[in-house]
Amino acid sequence: MTQAVAPERAADDLPEGTPRDSSDVAVRIRGLSKSFGSGAQRVAALRSVNWDVHAGEMSMIVGPSGCGKTTLLSVIAGVLDGDQGTVSIFGHELTSLGDRAKTRFRARHIGFVFQQYNLLPALTAAENVAVPLVLTGWAWAKAVRRAREVLELLGLAGRTENLPSQLSGGQQQRVAISRALAHEPSLLVCDEPTAALDHESGQNVMELLRGVVVRPDRAVIVVTHDNRIFHYGERIIHMDDGRILKEVRRSTTTAG
Ligand SMILES: Nc1ncnc2c1ncn2[C@@H]1O[C@H](COP(=O)(O)OP(=O)(O)OP(=O)(O)O)[C@@H](O)[C@H]1O
Ligand SMILES: [Mg+2]
Repeated sequence: MTQAVAPERAADDLPEGTPRDSSDVAVRIRGLSKSFGSGAQRVAALRSVNWDVHAGEMSMIVGPSGCGKTTLLSVIAGVLDGDQGTVSIFGHELTSLGDRAKTRFRARHIGFVFQQYNLLPALTAAENVAVPLVLTGWAWAKAVRRAREVLELLGLAGRTENLPSQLSGGQQQRVAISRALAHEPSLLVCDEPTAALDHESGQNVMELLRGVVVRPDRAVIVVTHDNRIFHYGERIIHMDDGRILKEVRRSTTTAG
């Protein structure tokens, strides 16, 4: 089932500079800092982070609550600006792009599964998945067809016309994952993608995410507390207090 999520794409479909070699770097982060608030309320969420995310791999970020995981994902995905430092994605320096160019790049090449899902409450599951496709130029009917196809892969065939409020937390999470996958992003970032899922659904989702990343022109970053899914990642990145403490390369590159 994973092939259907990540079908072949034409080479000219890929962002300029997309690497072909799995030893290449998908995301390069240098000196990235981000604080919230000011004065006595100031919180340093990221403290001069340097990190290379390898193409063709799934990287797992772990660390205590409040250590900066969501902040790091948000800056990588271009939904939050860092205060200092650079983020390059497949050779494109995201931090140097203007707002419109960044939005366009993000819509085309990045998928983000938010920790709080961020579904639009007035839209059905299929519409939630279809809207971002339409924003990148898809015709509505084609976008809805694609949305239903991905929702079915995530086990939601009977729920495509339901509103988020009519879905369980786990089902909403799978809608959010469908939305992030539907446009076949080069970079997929997922914040606790299995948090609301039972064991079997969680394993199914991880299999799907792995199916995305087996290509050398893709990468997946997963923030998780769920030690049952650690074995899906090639690398485990340990964060604490706004810093990356260590990166552990797992010996196995296959799931299971
Ligand atoms: N919008 C914000 N305004 C103020 N402080 C913020 C904001 N977002 C995050 N922070 C602070 O930045 C720090 C890092 O937060 P972040 O959400 O990145 O942590 P996290 O590692 O994802 O935690 P969790 O595991 O609980 O999701 C925390 O101290 C948090 O309180
Ligand atoms: Mg978080």
